[in-house]
Amino acid sequence: MLKMWVYALLLITAQLHRNTVFGAVSPRATDEYNASSKVGIGIADVTGTAAGVNMMGYAMPGQIAEGIHIRQRSRAFIIIDPSTNKRVVFVSVDINMGTTAVRTATLKKLNATFGNLYNEENVAISGTHTHAGPAGFLQYALYQITSFGYVKENTEAISTGIFNSIVKAHNSIQPASIYVSSGELLDVNVNRSPFSYENNPKEERSEYTYDVDKEMILLKFTNANGDVIGSLNWFPVHPVSMMNNNTLISGDNKGAASYFLEREYNGNGTLTGEETIVHAFSNSNLGDSSPNIFGPYCADTGNPCDYKTSTCNGKKDNCWGRGYGYLTGDDIYATKIIAELHVTKAKELISSATTLVNGSIDYRYTRIDMQNYKFTRNGTEVSLCKAALGYSMAAGTTDGPGGFNFIQGDNGTGNPFWNLVRRIIKEPAKETIECQRPKPIVLATGEMTSPYDFTPSIVDTQLLKIGNIIICVVPGEFTTMSGRRLKKTIKKVLVERGVIDDGGIVIVSGPSNTYTHYITTPEEYIVQRYEGASTIYGPNTLDAYLQIYQDLANSMADNITLPKGPATPDFTDKALNFILPIIVDIPPLFKKFGDIWKDVKANYTKGETVEVEFVGGHPKNVIQLEGSFLYVQRLEGEKWINVKNDGDWTTKFKWLGHSIVRIIWEIDNDTIAGTYRIFYQGYHKLLGGTIESESGTSSNFTVS
Ligand SMILES: *[C@@H]1O[C@H](CO)[C@@H](O)[C@H](O)[C@H]1NC(C)=O
Ligand SMILES: *[C@@H]1O[C@H](CO)[C@@H](O)[C@H](O)[C@H]1NC(C)=O
Ligand SMILES: *[C@@H]1O[C@H](CO)[C@@H](O)[C@H](O)[C@H]1NC(C)=O
Ligand SMILES: *[C@@H]1O[C@H](CO)[C@@H](O)[C@H](O)[C@H]1NC(C)=O
Ligand SMILES: *[C@@H]1O[C@H](CO)[C@@H](O)[C@H](O)[C@H]1NC(C)=O
Ligand SMILES: *[C@@H]1O[C@H](CO)[C@@H](O)[C@H](O)[C@H]1NC(C)=O
Ligand SMILES: *[C@@H]1O[C@H](CO)[C@@H](O)[C@H](O)[C@H]1NC(C)=O
Ligand SMILES: *[C@@H]1O[C@H](CO)[C@@H](O)[C@H](O)[C@H]1NC(C)=O
Ligand SMILES: *[C@@H]1O[C@H](CO)[C@@H](O)[C@H](O)[C@H]1NC(C)=O
Ligand SMILES: *[C@@H]1O[C@H](CO)[C@@H](O)[C@H](O)[C@H]1NC(C)=O
Ligand SMILES: *[C@@H]1O[C@H](CO)[C@@H](O)[C@H](O)[C@H]1NC(C)=O
Repeated sequence: MLKMWVYALLLITAQLHRNTVFGAVSPRATDEYNASSKVGIGIADVTGTAAGVNMMGYAMPGQIAEGIHIRQRSRAFIIIDPSTNKRVVFVSVDINMGTTAVRTATLKKLNATFGNLYNEENVAISGTHTHAGPAGFLQYALYQITSFGYVKENTEAISTGIFNSIVKAHNSIQPASIYVSSGELLDVNVNRSPFSYENNPKEERSEYTYDVDKEMILLKFTNANGDVIGSLNWFPVHPVSMMNNNTLISGDNKGAASYFLEREYNGNGTLTGEETIVHAFSNSNLGDSSPNIFGPYCADTGNPCDYKTSTCNGKKDNCWGRGYGYLTGDDIYATKIIAELHVTKAKELISSATTLVNGSIDYRYTRIDMQNYKFTRNGTEVSLCKAALGYSMAAGTTDGPGGFNFIQGDNGTGNPFWNLVRRIIKEPAKETIECQRPKPIVLATGEMTSPYDFTPSIVDTQLLKIGNIIICVVPGEFTTMSGRRLKKTIKKVLVERGVIDDGGIVIVSGPSNTYTHYITTPEEYIVQRYEGASTIYGPNTLDAYLQIYQDLANSMADNITLPKGPATPDFTDKALNFILPIIVDIPPLFKKFGDIWKDVKANYTKGETVEVEFVGGHPKNVIQLEGSFLYVQRLEGEKWINVKNDGDWTTKFKWLGHSIVRIIWEIDNDTIAGTYRIFYQGYHKLLGGTIESESGTSSNFTVS
C-alpha cells in the first residue's frame, strides 16, 4: 500500500480544487482600555472534512473519518501589557500538531485583517495532539503518504477557525487579571517507554518522584468584576484515548475536558460552540506520556508485554497499553474518564489560583534551519543531521502498534518490505548514517526532496513571557526528561539574568507551530524505541534546542531581537492530492436527499438512545465550519428550539456511505420532558459539480 502511494506521489500530478464555504468573523476596530492587564479570549470551530479523509496521528492509512463525535475547536488567548501595548497570542487548538501549512495560512489571514498586530513573532499555535481529527494539513510529503495527499480544505478550515478564534478574542479584549496555580494530577498518565527513560542518569532521575510529569499548571483569567472569563492549562499526556480504529472526529481527552468544563461554565441555554467562557487544556512534554495507565499487556495471553521491545512472543501487534476502556473496548468512555480527571483538577486550580501574574509581557521568535544547525558544546562544534526516521518509528507504540511488523528497539535487521520502500525512495547517505548513529534508518526523509521535502528543516522556535510565566513553544513532542531539561535550563538562564524570579514558572507547550516528530534526550536516543527513532535530527537534537531556547532567553534578557532566520518554504501550491473526488451523490431508488431512511420511535425515556437515518450527500461536499449536520430540537409553544448540535457529547453524526447518514442522540439524564425531533442538514453533488443543500426532519417523538 505504502509503496503504491509513494509511486503515486512521485508520478501523478493531480490537484483537486473544491469549493468550500467558510464564515469569517469581522473584527472590531479598536481595543483601547486602561487597566493593569488586558485579555481577550475566543473559541471557534476548526473541524474539517467530516468523512472520507484519513485521520491524523496513528499513521494508519485505513483509518478514515466517518463522522463527528465532538467538534474540534481553537481557543485563543490574547494577553496585553498595557504599559507597552506588547501582546502575545496563545492558541490551543484541537489538532494533532501545529503545522507550517496551518501557521502560514493563519498568519496570512491575520496580516490581511490586522496588519502587523498579530504576527509570526507573537502568535503561537499549539496543537492539543488529538489523534481523532481529519488529516492532510501538513505540507511535507511524509505525512501525505497516509493521508493520500495534501488536503487543502482541511488547512483552510483549521486556519480559518484559528483566525476566527483570534478575531473573537480581539473583539473581547477587556481589563482582566491573570492568576496562576499548579497541582499534581494523578491517574492520568504513565510513561510508555520506561525502558528509554531509565537510560537517563540515575542522579537526574532521582530528582523526580515520577517518570512522567504530573503537574498541571493553570492560568485563570477574571474580568473587572472578578468573574472567571476563561482558563488555560498545560498537562502532558497523549490524546490517544480514542483508539486507532475510531472513525469519529473528536478532540479526544483534551478536547473533551474543554467541552465538559465549558458546558459547566456557560449554562444550559448556550449551544456548544457558542460559549464565551473558554477553557483550554493544552499539551506539554507528552512524548512518552500515555493515558493508558494500566500499562501494556498482550491481548491474547493477558501477560505484560516484553519490557524492552513492547512485544508479545516477538510480535508487536498484540501489545496494547490498557487504559480506562480496556475491559469494554469503549474508547469514548475512556476519553471521558481522562477528561473528567482533567476537569476536576482544573476546577480545583481555578478556585485556588490567587497568585497574581503581573509582570511584563514579552516574546522572542526565530526560525532555525535544523539540518544545517551547528552549535558549540563543551568547546566542541556539534552538528545536527539530515532528518531520518529509525525502524522503531514504524513499530508504532503501545498506544497504537504501527501498521507494519516492526518492533521497538529494533537495531535494523529489518523487514524486507520497508527495506524495499527505503531503497525505492532513497538509500541514506553515508554521512546521514554516521550522523544518526546508532539509529538504524528506515526513511532518510531529510534527503527526500521530490516532489517536495518529506520533513521540515526550517523550524519555528518561540518563547512567550507573561509576567513570571515563561512558555517555551516547541516544534514537536518532547519526552518527559527532555522537557525537564529544557525547563531547568531556561529557568536558570532567566533567573540569573533577572527576567523572572525564583517563583517563576517555565512551561513547555507543544507540539506547536511546526511538526518535527519527537525530541528525546541523547541517552533515550541510544535506546531507539519509538521516540528515539522519531527524533529526526539525530542524537544532538535536544542539546540543539537547549542552545536555541537559551539564545531566545538571553535575547529577551538583553532586550534585543534575534534575526528571524531563513524563510519558511511553501509547498502548498504544488501539493499533490490523490483522494478521489465526489463525482456525484446518488440517492437510493424512489428517495430524495433529506428523506427519512429509518425513522425514530414515537416515545423515549431519558437515558435511551434515539437513532434516525436520512438520505444525505457526502459530508465532504461542504465543510460546515461553525455549523452542524444535526440539531436536536424541542417544541416550545409553537416553535422548535435547537438544544443540541453535532458538537455535543451525547450526539453522533455518522456517514454510512451509499448516501445514508445516521444521527444518534443518547438522551441526557437532565433532558426536559417534552416533544422533540431531529433536524438534519447537508449537501449533495449533482453530475457536473453543482452542490445543493438538503435537509430533513425526523418524526416528532416524546421524551419522558
Ligand atoms: C489611562 O490612565 C492614565 C493614567 O492612569 C490616564 O492619564 C489616561 O487618561 C487614561 N486613559 C484612558 C483612555 O482612560
Ligand atoms: C503585514 O502587514 C503589514 C502592514 O499592513 C505589512 O507591512 C507587512 O509587510 C505584512 N507582512 C507580511 C508578512 O505580509
Ligand atoms: C443546567 O441544568 C442542570 C440540570 O437541569 C442544572 O442542574 C444546572 O444547574 C444547570 N446549569 C446552569 C449553569 O444553569
Ligand atoms: C476497536 O478495537 C477494540 C479492541 O480490539 C474493540 O474492543 C473496539 O470495539 C473497536 N472499536 C471500534 C469502533 O471498532
Ligand atoms: C505584583 O503582585 C505582587 C503581589 O502578588 C506585588 O507584590 C507586586 O508589587 C506586583 N508587581 C507589580 C509590578 O505590579
Ligand atoms: C559537557 O561537560 C559537562 C561538565 O562540564 C558534562 O557534565 C557533560 O557530560 C558534557 N557533555 C558532553 C555531551 O560531553
Ligand atoms: C542487532 O540485534 C541482534 C539481535 O538483537 C544482534 O544479534 C546483532 O548483533 C545486532 N546488530 C547490530 C549491528 O547491533
Ligand atoms: C527594549 O528595547 C526597546 C527598543 O528596542 C525599548 O523601546 C524598550 O524601552 C526597551 N525595554 C527595556 C526594558 O529596556
Ligand atoms: C407515545 O406517547 C403518547 C403520549 O405521550 C401516547 O399517546 C402514544 O400512545 C405513545 N405511543 C406509543 C407507541 O407508545
Ligand atoms: C444517565 O445516567 C445513567 C445512570 O447514572 C448513566 O449510566 C448514563 O450514562 C447517563 N446518560 C447520559 C447520556 O449521561
Ligand atoms: C410535530 O409537531 C408539530 C408541532 O406541534 C406539528 O405541527 C406537526 O404536525 C407534528 N408532526 C407530526 C408528523 O405529527
